[in-house]
Amino acid sequence: MSGYAETQASALWRLDLDDAARRHRLDLSDAAALPERERQVAVASWLGRMVNETRSARVFAALKGQARDAGLSGATVAELARFEAEELRHGELCAAAAVALGGSAVQVVERGPDVPDHELEDSLEGLLRNVLSISCLSETVAVALIQAERLESGPRALQRLLREILADEVGHARAGWRLLDELAPRLGSARRDRLSAWLALAFGHLEAHELRELAPGPAPSALAEAYGVCDGDRARQLFLTTVHSVIIPGLERRGLHAGWAWQHRQATCCSARDLYAPMRLSSGGGRSGGGDGATDSDGAGLGVADVVARWGTWRLQRAVPGARAGSSARRRSGIGRRRTVR
Ligand SMILES: [Fe+2]
Ligand SMILES: [Fe+2]
Repeated sequence: MSGYAETQASALWRLDLDDAARRHRLDLSDAAALPERERQVAVASWLGRMVNETRSARVFAALKGQARDAGLSGATVAELARFEAEELRHGELCAAAAVALGGSAVQVVERGPDVPDHELEDSLEGLLRNVLSISCLSETVAVALIQAERLESGPRALQRLLREILADEVGHARAGWRLLDELAPRLGSARRDRLSAWLALAFGHLEAHELRELAPGPAPSALAEAYGVCDGDRARQLFLTTVHSVIIPGLERRGLHAGWAWQHRQATCCSARDLYAPMRLSSGGGRSGGGDGATDSDGAGLGVADVVARWGTWRLQRAVPGARAGSSARRRSGIGRRRTVR
């Protein structure tokens, strides 16, 4: 059966995107040069993304209903419906990469938690909790990670695929920041304080999720990275830099106590010490607020392009001592040009 079937009793999903993947006819025949073990890791990586993207579709489906209940405009509800469709397509694209690398796009996975409805009398506040968590946190981090991935991707077919996904993720993140801007005048200080307290929990969830997804350790080879295997240590550092340089300052500018919330974030599955144990943090990982990545942002809360451009620069300097600061990395990726984030 193609598509995704849900078994509520077992809370398991059987995702079968094989047919959908083959319809994309992604050609990665050059991947024959990948050693077998690295090919398997690359397939597993794309399958993991396939699952996460498809879960994201459920998230936007739930958010769409909450936006309707909170009395938001029909245009906003329609936009969220479009995001749901885009996430389903992302799942198919990631499945296509897995199949093109010789894998099978069939996975049986846990369904994952539902988007909380918070059961608040104040439906606007309940909606904003989820908008913060989904768009301002998760989707903003996704933009940074996928932008960086484009720096590493080799085959043009994968670059095109990542470009399409990235453009959509930027829209998903930006919509949340925009909604926050629109609703900010209606919040009041009591709501802001409650939302800031909520952020401590949301940051804990974000951290646990990202660090679970971004397994520590380097990619097995540059070739494996070109086919989508992530360098976990560097990706974790980019995640933390995005939190400190983009997300926290962006939320602070909108009146939320995000620096405080990060410092008081609540670990949700295990201690932060356990999560970080395998990696050494760069100096950028422990600060909150004040990052300059957001000060020159576009006003929608995203300074991600600049953060990733500097991340690329740092990599280039490490790889080629004496190299000029990042210009070729920027040229290759397009990162740093304002139109990349739209
Ligand atoms: Fe996505
Ligand atoms: Fe997204």
